[in-house]
Amino acid sequence: MTAGIDPATARADIDLSALGANLRTLAAHAAPAQLMLVVKADAYGHGMLRCAAAARAAGVAWLGVATPAEALALREDGDTGLLLAWLYGVDEDLAPLVAADVDVSVQSADQVSRLVAAAAVTERRARVHLKVDTGLSRNGAASSDWPELFAAAAEAEETGAVEVVAVWSHLAAADEPGHPATAVQVEAFDRAWAAARAAGLRPRLQHLANSAGALVAPRTRYDLVRVGVAAYGVEPAPGLAGMAGIELRPVMTLRATLANVKEIPAGAGVSYGWAWTAPARTTVGLVPLGYADGIPRHAGNRAEVGLDGTRVPVRGRICMDQFVVELGADSTYEPGAEVLVFGPGDDGEPTAADWADWCDTIGYEIVTRIGPRVPRRYLGQRE
Ligand SMILES: Cc1ncc(COP(=O)(O)O)c(C=O)c1O
Repeated sequence: MTAGIDPATARADIDLSALGANLRTLAAHAAPAQLMLVVKADAYGHGMLRCAAAARAAGVAWLGVATPAEALALREDGDTGLLLAWLYGVDEDLAPLVAADVDVSVQSADQVSRLVAAAAVTERRARVHLKVDTGLSRNGAASSDWPELFAAAAEAEETGAVEVVAVWSHLAAADEPGHPATAVQVEAFDRAWAAARAAGLRPRLQHLANSAGALVAPRTRYDLVRVGVAAYGVEPAPGLAGMAGIELRPVMTLRATLANVKEIPAGAGVSYGWAWTAPARTTVGLVPLGYADGIPRHAGNRAEVGLDGTRVPVRGRICMDQFVVELGADSTYEPGAEVLVFGPGDDGEPTAADWADWCDTIGYEIVTRIGPRVPRRYLGQRE
């Protein structure tokens, strides 16, 4: 356990009812495709176990994670539903996954063999999703390797060691509607499906779409959409929820109380390197969160935070544990006043999307990077 920050000083509020509402909205939008909530990376910083439980309560059939350890943590927590893990190293033992009834992604004949060995050790049938590369050039079998992968999977299925549940792939650019990659990938994915069937496989599922695909690229939805960021109320790219005709509500609100307030004279340099100097006498407040907590250092002199229904600017560089905001010459704020770093925007505070814009990144990174020192408080669901 990380020795963290006192929740009265700073915390991330996680609105599980917003998560549930987003999931229901997305499920209705993507229907008849089923929904998988992607809860890797601690549910994009929102807390994997609580978000997973909330998703199951909202009727989500599938959960998806990257690593075996994430999948096993869910099982240890009592999750028994459909669960897929897709990223592991060359030396990782797959037997614990098979033993825990976790679906495993494989992308090569070698990985099929490893899964067959895991099935033998556990005396269970391994459930496998065959990952094909359709144009991301990241994970997944290259099209030249599809025949070998499908043949190995068909042989393993024949022996009863594995059940091939799905053929799947991942999109490269669905967050840019009209990008040619999406049509290219759909066409390649259909070819992979035909090749799998020609090899004698009869998987029940095809899945390709991420949030962006689920939102605005209907042809990518197939049987199941793997939704991450949108479920947490952050658009994959600005405007995509509107384009899909739905509303999503940000699930995380990052808040802190000012640890210090003081007046500084004209000419005072603020924070490391004096990257900002007060042009006139003013008051500054100290926010007790820093880049160790996931506040991007890039946000120095760019970002704003919400205070009492208005915005105040970040001044100077973001430090490891703290940053400075300008409250104005006539400020009457005292230490203990609450600032909203980001949230849904209800009180005029910035959103994660605003921070992404200020920091030249994507909303995904803003929420996912909020670190383990920041306590999470869960709202909107009975204990
Ligand atoms: C394989 C895979 N599927 C689905 C997702 C979910 O993506 P998004 O958060 O854009 O919905 C991810 C996340 O990066 C992923 O790696």
